[in-house]
Amino acid sequence: MVSNEEVSSIIDAYPRDRRYALAVMQDMQRTFNYVPENGLIATAEHLDCSVAQLYSMATFYKALSLKPKGKHIIKVCDGTACHLRGANNLVTGVKRELGIVPGEVTADGEFSLELVNCLGSCALAPVLVIDGVYHNKVKIDAIPSILKEHATPVVTQ
Ligand code: FES
Repeated sequence: MVSNEEVSSIIDAYPRDRRYALAVMQDMQRTFNYVPENGLIATAEHLDCSVAQLYSMATFYKALSLKPKGKHIIKVCDGTACHLRGANNLVTGVKRELGIVPGEVTADGEFSLELVNCLGSCALAPVLVIDGVYHNKVKIDAIPSILKEHATPVVTQ
């Protein structure tokens, strides 16, 4: 849960002008990993627009999410080339390792999984991207080591 103070610290940095609506929500997305409900309400008040307007922007832009996303975002390409070359296997591999399906976040908030359209590397299908890093011609057996590579290291003392 994001506090109203945390929300205000973002919103107050912007002028009271509706054209900043997207920038405010992008800022919240970056900071909180999603746009919280109290953030939408406070932004609507600050910019003198309706929550419904902000809601439709938040659902239109794929970069914005109304639900918390994981710290690390896994994108499995499900464009035609990747689909034909086994994108479903990659989803199965991630599910096997992390217990999540597309649209879900792991209980510890580490990873979220998304199915996306063509990522522009069709010749290297199937493609999986984590935190913007492309993994090409991925086989299901490689999923555990790819995930390990991107996981937040556990600090032991
Ligand atoms: S279909 Fe996956 S990169 Fe194009």
